[in-house]
Amino acid sequence: MTKITINQASKYVGKEVTIGSWILNKRSSGKIAFLQLRDGTGFMQAVVVKESVGEELFKVAKGITQETSLYITGVIKEDERSDFGYEMEVTGIEVIHESVDYPITPKAHGTDFLMDHRHLWLRSKRQHAVMKIRNEIIRATYEFFNDNGFTKIDPPILTGSAPEGTSELFATKYFEEDAFLSQSGQLYMEAAAMAHGKVFSFGPTFRAEKSKTRRHLIEFWMIEPEMAFYEHEDSLEVQEQYVSYIVQSVLKNCQLDLKLLGRDTEKLEKVKAPFPRITYTDAIQFLKEQGFDDIEWGDDFGAPHETAIANHYDLPVFILNYPTGIKPFYMQPNPDEEGTVKCADLIAPEGYGEIIGGSERIWDLELIQSRIKEHGLDPAAYSYYTDLRKYGSVPHSGFGLGLERTVAWLSGVEHVRETSPFPRLLNRLYP
Ligand code: 4AD
Ligand code: MG
Repeated sequence: MTKITINQASKYVGKEVTIGSWILNKRSSGKIAFLQLRDGTGFMQAVVVKESVGEELFKVAKGITQETSLYITGVIKEDERSDFGYEMEVTGIEVIHESVDYPITPKAHGTDFLMDHRHLWLRSKRQHAVMKIRNEIIRATYEFFNDNGFTKIDPPILTGSAPEGTSELFATKYFEEDAFLSQSGQLYMEAAAMAHGKVFSFGPTFRAEKSKTRRHLIEFWMIEPEMAFYEHEDSLEVQEQYVSYIVQSVLKNCQLDLKLLGRDTEKLEKVKAPFPRITYTDAIQFLKEQGFDDIEWGDDFGAPHETAIANHYDLPVFILNYPTGIKPFYMQPNPDEEGTVKCADLIAPEGYGEIIGGSERIWDLELIQSRIKEHGLDPAAYSYYTDLRKYGSVPHSGFGLGLERTVAWLSGVEHVRETSPFPRLLNRLYP
């Protein structure tokens, strides 16, 4: 018998095939049983008709339990009533392993229960769709940067220095020395850009933040491009093109997943470069006009502020030129507005918050050395970084896109915990 996967069904209409699968759900009457199959590549209904399969096989089908694994054989038929478009008319069932008392039943469960069973929850339709969208963003990311002349370089995860501030570090021992899990690969990517021109990284990053919001994970994946001879304006163009590319790729290649999630795709279809821009200073003014009197120039934005700004636009919006005091040590001063730096955060629409942080980097040796001192950092730990300003220094810029927040936005899921296969959250290291 020909063994196929569910996503190949369209090529086998009218043929008898076998599919290795699991039972997602089942409905039956005295004469007919409907088995909802899943095999990792998709979901499909299998129909077992008592009159055609006989008493014995029908009994097996009727008694089959949720998440039982099986080889199921039958003829593929077109089925216009389902989104998938195909179903199987069953001729044979070989149970591989019977699943007893599967904990996640079709009834509603609380989030804590589901998170405790994350290893099983991943099998559900909704979680499957979110992971497929995550995978498409990753695929499109590699495609975009490879097609645009970038080289992928992998920065280390065990590091001796802290790019994004010293308070959010996971410390560990490196034999006798102190080490930290990487918060960002940026500083190493700057070194790589001086060797390869345009580079990008994609890897896990760690923040020991005691934040318990729908946007924060302790471990998340970040895409960090870095470009030599790029001023900040050039970097903004890469950012809007990259984000447009991943949004359009997801719309094109994840239609069934978006439909299953009930995602309103009209809003996503509009996401095409260029994106609107507003300066930090104008954003403060805008917020005050909107009645926010809890924020002053020099404060960082909270989620409600970002959402209010984002709601004013249909597209992701760049907030430019934040005050020097609320940004990391490496950002290039902005000559057009005293006390600000050449940076931008990209805020996603619909309340999903900041998905990109980026900036032009200081490339003057004396200035970077004085910033390292002002921030109370150990110059010895950064000597590799200051070396880049000693030997043929050039203007350069880069940014970091948070994968999980981007998945949340495109999938339309409320909380980033559903966008990571095994999320690390405050108070959650299991499973
Ligand atoms: O703004 P961040 O901290 O910027 C950097 O780390 C820079 N070094 C990047 C660079 O220029 N190469 O983080 C970048 C992005 C944020 O915009 C957000 O999308 C995501 O990373 N992010 C988080 N995602 C989930 N949970 C957290 N705790 C996150 N912290 C940041
Ligand atoms: Mg940021």
